[in-house]
Amino acid sequence: MPTCSVELSLADLAATVRGCTRCPLGATRRNLVFGEGNPHAELMFVGEGPGEVEDETGRPFVGPAGQLLTQVLNAVSLSRDEVYITNVVKCRPPGNRVPARSEMEACWEWLAAQIALIRPRIIVTLGNTPTQWFLGRGEGIGQLRGRFYRWKGGIEVFPMFHPSFLLRNPSKVKGSPKHLTWLDIQAVKDRISFLRCPTPTA
Ligand code: SF4
Ligand code: URA
Repeated sequence: MPTCSVELSLADLAATVRGCTRCPLGATRRNLVFGEGNPHAELMFVGEGPGEVEDETGRPFVGPAGQLLTQVLNAVSLSRDEVYITNVVKCRPPGNRVPARSEMEACWEWLAAQIALIRPRIIVTLGNTPTQWFLGRGEGIGQLRGRFYRWKGGIEVFPMFHPSFLLRNPSKVKGSPKHLTWLDIQAVKDRISFLRCPTPTA
């Protein structure tokens, strides 16, 4: 049961989004994947779009890539329940193709509303698609990952590799995507602790 206004409004928003047919992805989805997690999360993870298992279940990041994301969180003692997890598009692109710019534009109002309600301190963008969308830059994730970018409203964006990419690149040697991801998630955890510190007043 929702217990406060943020939860009520997130639930209202989810109910509004459920019937969305603003872009062609609405016609081929089985289930819309709104997102889930802590409505007061300091940390929000944004993926590309639902995959097959997500489309079947209506939940974000629950397939093989999602299980790896859960492990990455757990490695620094974060649970899925304390963060918020969603995607730039809420409906599965057929065959897991990259969502079209027009589809991300059509869906942006929903993600923007989620951000406005949850007010996270950090948004972790997973892979090229959400990273390029948020930062408005064309470089690849290999160049952009691992740094905090000032975004709107005091929110910081921190790009990381997409867990599907890690599944295709399982090496853990120094400098490998998995090794860099381990460093990245620790940096996120440290930054959250830092942001929680009271700001000294001069
Ligand atoms: Fe609506 Fe987004 Fe689904 Fe397109 S992807 S139909 S904009 S919810
Ligand atoms: N990949 C994504 O980008 N999002 C999901 O929810 C699942 C897999």
